[in-house]
Amino acid sequence: MREWTREERYRVLQSPDELKDLYESIQESVYRQTYHVQPVTGLLNDPNGFIYHDGVWHLFYQWCPWGAVHGLKYWYHVTSSDLISWENQGVGLRPDTFYDNRGNHSGSGISVDGKLYFFYTGNHRDEDWTRTPYTCAAVLEKDGVLRKFPKPLFTPRKRYTEHQRDPKIVYRKDRSMYYIFIGAQSDDLRGKVLIYQSKKLEEGWVFAGELKVPGYEAFGGMWECPCMEHIGEKDVFIFSLQYTKLPGRGESTNHNLYMIGNMDYETLTFVPESGYHHLDYGFDFYAAQTAANVKGREKAILIGWMGLPDNHYPTEEEDWEGSLSLPRELRVEDGHLIQTPVEGIEKLRRQKLEADGMLPKAGEMLISVQEEDFHLKLFAGSNGEGGMDICYNAKTKICSVDRTGLTKRFNQHLGEILEVPLVSGLKSLRIFIDHSSVEIFLNDGEKVFTSHVYPTEEEHHYVISQNTSITLWDFYPSVTDDFVI
Ligand code: FRU
Repeated sequence: MREWTREERYRVLQSPDELKDLYESIQESVYRQTYHVQPVTGLLNDPNGFIYHDGVWHLFYQWCPWGAVHGLKYWYHVTSSDLISWENQGVGLRPDTFYDNRGNHSGSGISVDGKLYFFYTGNHRDEDWTRTPYTCAAVLEKDGVLRKFPKPLFTPRKRYTEHQRDPKIVYRKDRSMYYIFIGAQSDDLRGKVLIYQSKKLEEGWVFAGELKVPGYEAFGGMWECPCMEHIGEKDVFIFSLQYTKLPGRGESTNHNLYMIGNMDYETLTFVPESGYHHLDYGFDFYAAQTAANVKGREKAILIGWMGLPDNHYPTEEEDWEGSLSLPRELRVEDGHLIQTPVEGIEKLRRQKLEADGMLPKAGEMLISVQEEDFHLKLFAGSNGEGGMDICYNAKTKICSVDRTGLTKRFNQHLGEILEVPLVSGLKSLRIFIDHSSVEIFLNDGEKVFTSHVYPTEEEHHYVISQNTSITLWDFYPSVTDDFVI
């Protein structure tokens, strides 16, 4: 693993030319994705500013240009007309002011009166490296440039640590009020969410209070990337829990969670109907964000980072890492969040493949299962050995995923076997494979399992235990990989 100095990680990008060689070299990688958003160079983490405006979906990602390392973060911009094909648009936000001198950290977007606004964390650090997170805003100009507001909307609050970030903007029509949710950590090191409000988007922001979540006053060490989304008749609170281990999740201290309940904006209380749930049961899913206030859509759209903080992936050697998940449609059914791959994804199907034991490098696999014990091996070698084992136990209704058989193992210290508990029996699996990822939708989105995977040239076989119906397609590429900085 390469050691990076602080100077190297926080180097400011002066010209695209500085990245050209890096870009050319990573184009050679066999792990570049073809229908998932990935970093143009270097490292990608959280999705940011995900919003629909004037016929276009805008999406940004946290980007560190120089390699597979967290350092100076930019917002890199991609756009789409259908959430399936994505085009690189270049840098959206760059750290070029006092307030964001050490990075533009995560945030969200909103479309109001024909204008597109973005809210982000300006990560300021003094010379002695003391951090001050500012909540900042920018508006997208007609020429595609993001114009930053000259001053932050508000500064961090006392009685909380330096961890106050990731503004999520919400408009409540019933109260004619804008709200910003901020992920935070209290001085006694508890995860919290701070709420600010204003009648106007551009000014007048005041602190409204801390989000109250009865029963969760002392839950985990930091709540990053909060989202409060109204879906159907319910409110869904999504957040990324940091510095905390949870049962059944190995040694990992990062978890993307959600709760379903009701949000009362008068008392700033979110009452969960039941406990917390994992948004995704895979090894690599975090910092998910919903598209805000999308008109004409009953379902919210969610996209996440396929990765976890402090983890390392094999493409690190190639100086890049990370990608975003497929966008998912969210709906609430019987107290559960159902997540399905974005509508229209079928148009990526190029051709149906023989179900002959070979996996496509980029494609889809649809399996109907008789509700009994089931075993599927993905990414096995040509002899059917090794790979990733998916085992369903009909008695316990638990599906386990074991990746110890893969040649390229990574993040082993966090655990390599995870379990997905199902409510009813396993009936179907819809699996999306790209060159370095796998996303498994169980029972039409009852549960999802997302992970990076780096199969060798040999590891493109599958073995299945039941004589069951399998349909396989390979996919057209849908994400351009152009050098646009
Ligand atoms: C989550 C996160 C955010 C922060 C960003 C920095 O992965 O830590 O809280 O804004 O990443 O890149």
